[in-house]
Amino acid sequence: MSNLRGKHIVLGISGGIAAYKSVMLLRLLVKAGAEVQVVITPNGKEFITPVTLSALSGKPVVSEFFTANTGEWHSHVDLGLWADLMIIAPATASTIGKMANGIADNMLITTYLSAKEQVMVAPAMDLDMWRHPSTQRNIETLKRDGVIIVEPEAGELASGLVGKGRMEEPEGIVKAAEAYFAKTASLTGKRVMVTAGPTFENIDPVRFIGNYSSGKMGFAIAEEFASRGAEVLLIAGPVSMEVKGEGIKRINVVSAREMYEAAVSNFDGMDYVVLAAAVADYAPETVSESKIKREGTDEMVLKLVKNPDIAATLGSMKTTQKIIGFALETDHELENALHKLKKKNLDWIVLNSLRDPEAGFMKDTNKITIVSDTGMELEFPAKRKTEVAKDIADVVAGK
Ligand code: CTP
Repeated sequence: MSNLRGKHIVLGISGGIAAYKSVMLLRLLVKAGAEVQVVITPNGKEFITPVTLSALSGKPVVSEFFTANTGEWHSHVDLGLWADLMIIAPATASTIGKMANGIADNMLITTYLSAKEQVMVAPAMDLDMWRHPSTQRNIETLKRDGVIIVEPEAGELASGLVGKGRMEEPEGIVKAAEAYFAKTASLTGKRVMVTAGPTFENIDPVRFIGNYSSGKMGFAIAEEFASRGAEVLLIAGPVSMEVKGEGIKRINVVSAREMYEAAVSNFDGMDYVVLAAAVADYAPETVSESKIKREGTDEMVLKLVKNPDIAATLGSMKTTQKIIGFALETDHELENALHKLKKKNLDWIVLNSLRDPEAGFMKDTNKITIVSDTGMELEFPAKRKTEVAKDIADVVAGK
């Protein structure tokens, strides 16, 4: 049985010759048990009639913002909430360009811009258009935005030319959709703990020692594991971020000591533990109960004591858990990362270098190298943190 059964799919069709193949794609999706809502661009309707599409999908086709005779408003926001997957096939060069740049001049693009679900695109165009730097740039942008690209095939094109640009066959697109849903369920039944954000170590009721960690990387990891069906426990330091997605339980902590206690007491029964938090290594030995006054002292000495090492403690407690640590280094990066991995008894360590302009605190992007306990190194290009989270999940938990 196909894993598309019962899934809600928005099928976006833009105006290219390959639109005729969308009829077959629609049929295959419906046959596999999916509920499909077609959204077509005005140009798409020049190639294929909405009557055929609504007959096959069993739903009126959405094309305009309003239905002319009834004045009914089609809500792209509702579609975004309803859908489990959006497939745009064919995606013309123009549609791809609009998607990459947020030009929302038709219902298909507004639906794309408010999509909460994964979006998959099957481009179709002539080989010169496909090869054009502008198209390639837009495709790269979409990839960075998390869109899955079903690469066009090489072959005979509608223009009579031979080359890359022909839309993937409907069967291939269905396979890509099935592969996506297989991945979303691949960690069902697994339990994952993620630490994220900074820790704050109080000095007095109004001051603390902290760091610039935003929590973005850890939150993206929690969301990625949850999107694959895992039950996630997110132990978050003081950050203002909200976590998105179902299947995530959040414990908020402030200090390293609190994070340590939450992590140690929940470690048992976990399958994966990802330690993305930037934990303060030291905390003031005593916390003043009242605000420390400026008057009367020209100097101030704070005595700091070492915080417990969460990673090393969990590493020593580990039975079947896989532990993934992070290392943010400025020099001798690989050497230091591998040393941390061994010392803390981790299974993987994710290295990011502060020297890299696209890596580090408060950024939306990161550039990582994943190192395994056998010394295997996997280097990735700079990507958005949501995409980096996918690479980490792929490597540590399998594709
Ligand atoms: N870590 C932890 N508890 C601590 C310190 C670090 O769990 N008290 C974890 C981090 O979440 C990270 C890994 O250990 O996954 C490495 O953190 P890092 O600060 O780079 O390591 P340190 O051992 O503190 O080394 P350094 O001297 O470079 O700060």
